Amino acid sequence: MHFLELIEKKKRGGQFTKSEIEFWIEGYVAGDIPDYQVSALLMAIFFNGMSKQETTDLTMTMVASGAQIDLASIEGIKVDKHSTGGVGDKVTLILVPLIASLGIPVAKMSGRGLGHTGGTIDKLESIAGFQTELTTNQFIDQVNQIGLAVIGQSEQLVKADKLLYALRDVTATVDSMPLIASSIMSKKIAAGSDAILLDVTIGSGAFMKDVENAEILARLMVELGEQVGRKTIAVITDMSEPLGLTIGNRLEILEAVAVLKNQGLPELKEFVLDLAELMQKLAGEVPNRAQLEANIANGAAYHKLVEMVVAQGGTEAALLKPAATTYQIVYSAKKSGYISRLDALLLGEIAMQLGAGRQTKADTIDNEVGIVLTKKVGAPIKEGETILTLYSNQEISQLINQQLECAVQIADYSKSNPSIIKIIESE
Ligand code: URA
Repeated sequence: MHFLELIEKKKRGGQFTKSEIEFWIEGYVAGDIPDYQVSALLMAIFFNGMSKQETTDLTMTMVASGAQIDLASIEGIKVDKHSTGGVGDKVTLILVPLIASLGIPVAKMSGRGLGHTGGTIDKLESIAGFQTELTTNQFIDQVNQIGLAVIGQSEQLVKADKLLYALRDVTATVDSMPLIASSIMSKKIAAGSDAILLDVTIGSGAFMKDVENAEILARLMVELGEQVGRKTIAVITDMSEPLGLTIGNRLEILEAVAVLKNQGLPELKEFVLDLAELMQKLAGEVPNRAQLEANIANGAAYHKLVEMVVAQGGTEAALLKPAATTYQIVYSAKKSGYISRLDALLLGEIAMQLGAGRQTKADTIDNEVGIVLTKKVGAPIKEGETILTLYSNQEISQLINQQLECAVQIADYSKSNPSIIKIIESE
């Protein structure tokens, strides 16, 4: 078999057999197939898609590209959560310690930023000393000892996703349903949890732009999870404006800390509580919002985050370190009214240009840069009032100023976006 034949086959809309998928993934992981050929295949998949069977085979072959973690030695139903990607999406950093503070074990494998979206692993690496690559034994021991761990893909765990993820990020092949489903579900299956909550985002800042496509992706992933015996629920949520008030790695860590200290944006806390109730349900418990609220108010959830940071090599001081940039540039309202648009895609792209995301595989991220919003869509605003502040280590280009003009709009009436749009479970 020659890899070129596989590119040719997919280019013409053909369907791969399981052994063709194994030939691709095993050859790529072994270093026998170069990035440029895999890039061509990814683009052919973007245009011609994959059947359900191909997506299942791809997912399971990716799982087999590394170790599969057996969490049987940890008592209780282990839960995990994953988002299909968003702008300002720091939910994991709040939700995971909150759930762990209830005594529900959380064993999570996350990803890095993709395109204009941020990634939990990049956010965690903005905490000095934080290690996102643990061995399988370290991962299991940590979940046993403190009830939670968040790691990234590695040479040992879903190596195929580590390689494909980085390549998709810089070849405009992220927003493909089979590639998203296999990337997410291979991580979830390999990480070994019994139950999985999937947050499938829609809107300008998401990879799925409408509810119909988000629902197809959600059902595909729920089916993949259930096929391997994992209880899986997906929610479809809004990503037309950034989540919360910050975009950028360090800034988002600080906002997550603020929510865990009960000082954050109330809507963000409520959204996380909605998801937390679903995770309680997945863990076989009766959802209990009062208990969740109490564990934020009494500091138990924040304490769990600190415990995880320390267990993975960081310190509380590093967790709380403010973002430090050369420039902080204020963008103010040109007229009074109500904020009617804070476009997540454009704001995510601006954050990327400031250095918060990667344009090529070799790019390093500037953890300090990003955007802090002062208002959300629907909020009243007066002429001259600050809408947002850019944290930057470079002067702001003409292009960014033009993008800001498009990203932010003020109208004469108020409207706000719902958070959870739909919940999808297997019958
Ligand atoms: N998150 C992932 O882990 N993979 C994707 O492809 C998209 C979001």
